[in-house]
Amino acid sequence: MGYRTRLRQDPLAYIEELSRGSTAGVIRLPWGGWCVRDTELAQTLLRDPEYHRGGSTFFGELLPARSAQAELGRAVRSLLRAGVPHYRAALPEAVAALPTAGRWPDAGTRLVYRCLADVLLHPGTPGGSRALMRQAAHKGVAVRSPHMWQRARAEPVRARLVTAVTEEARRRRRQPAGEPRDMLDAVLTVCSEAEVSDRTVADLHLMMLRAIMAPLSASLAWSVLLACRHHTRAAPWPWPVEHIVHETLRYRPVPWMLGRTLPRATDLGGTVFPPGELLSVCPYLLHHDERHWNSPDAFRPERWTSNSGHGPYIPFGTGPFSCAGAAVAHTLLTESLAALADDAYLAVTGGDTRAAMSEGNVPRPFILHRTQTTRRHTT
Ligand code: HEM
Repeated sequence: MGYRTRLRQDPLAYIEELSRGSTAGVIRLPWGGWCVRDTELAQTLLRDPEYHRGGSTFFGELLPARSAQAELGRAVRSLLRAGVPHYRAALPEAVAALPTAGRWPDAGTRLVYRCLADVLLHPGTPGGSRALMRQAAHKGVAVRSPHMWQRARAEPVRARLVTAVTEEARRRRRQPAGEPRDMLDAVLTVCSEAEVSDRTVADLHLMMLRAIMAPLSASLAWSVLLACRHHTRAAPWPWPVEHIVHETLRYRPVPWMLGRTLPRATDLGGTVFPPGELLSVCPYLLHHDERHWNSPDAFRPERWTSNSGHGPYIPFGTGPFSCAGAAVAHTLLTESLAALADDAYLAVTGGDTRAAMSEGNVPRPFILHRTQTTRRHTT
């Protein structure tokens, strides 16, 4: 069976099989590049400043200056952090709007989007850009589908959104705001110094929309799926939601490979890799190394009750290019999970714990049944 089919069927089982089938510290990936399978070597590499010298692949050519990249990460993180109370307040209504039996991960994507929409583009934004962003969130632009045909179907919405946000960026540049009201203002503030076109501003806004929505939506869906499959009684979950989130990000880290193109020849464990090679670390392999974790293949939120006994944990990467939004992402996930479980029993049907491959490891569709246990009091 070809590697593409194996990847489609179960990417995590496939990378595990490649890893188990090798005694070398680094394995060649059939689609090109290398993956460091040995945990100690991977940690050495991630700590080596030389490895990161070629820069982050995250922003690509959109924003080449490292200072501007870091500034944008910080600006969006501050905005999201300030928006946490708003997100929390929006959750009960968003949860109440969910169907009693809803199809996930799509329903979770809508939930997250509904609570974040005002931070991404503020409600006073004229024109149709807010409506287009909503379509983008609902129709596979913000969170891309694992299926090519669905990605192709989302393309016209993406193009219309970029055109509308380019227009809005142009308008805002003529009438600049004071404090950033939303993520577009944050992008514009960072790009005010640099020679960045309105179109690039819109592309950066879309890039950040995806960077936020895709891993949040997939991690929330994994959390719900895994917690429900491991606790099937009609009773509240026996674990604090923070521990469910920690364990989910360990057990099913959404980022697939953290890679860097080597700027110069690099010696790793006695093998020299020439410049230009793509050398990656797979968070899933590190999180499932039995030399560092007890029963790594078991989903056990209770392992987080203690602060010790944890192996290498990199769901948000590590080093100079690690995720700018890690802490706030954790908060948004725990808030969302708490709201979903509030006065309700949750159960899933369908789906399984195999990942599908999109821009990372995403859960396959499943149905979440949510049964309210007490009537809410509204004031
Ligand atoms: C569960 C949610 C999230 C996960 C799992 C996640 C994971 C990651 C990972 C693995 C990286 C790359 C690290 C590397 O290459 O070494 C990254 C980069 C980044 N993430 Fe996140 N992320 C999440 C949510 C967010 C949010 C909410 C924001 C909003 C601020 C954000 C902003 C960024 C930025 C700006 C970078 C690029 C950092 C740089 O190159 O300077 N992420 N994220």
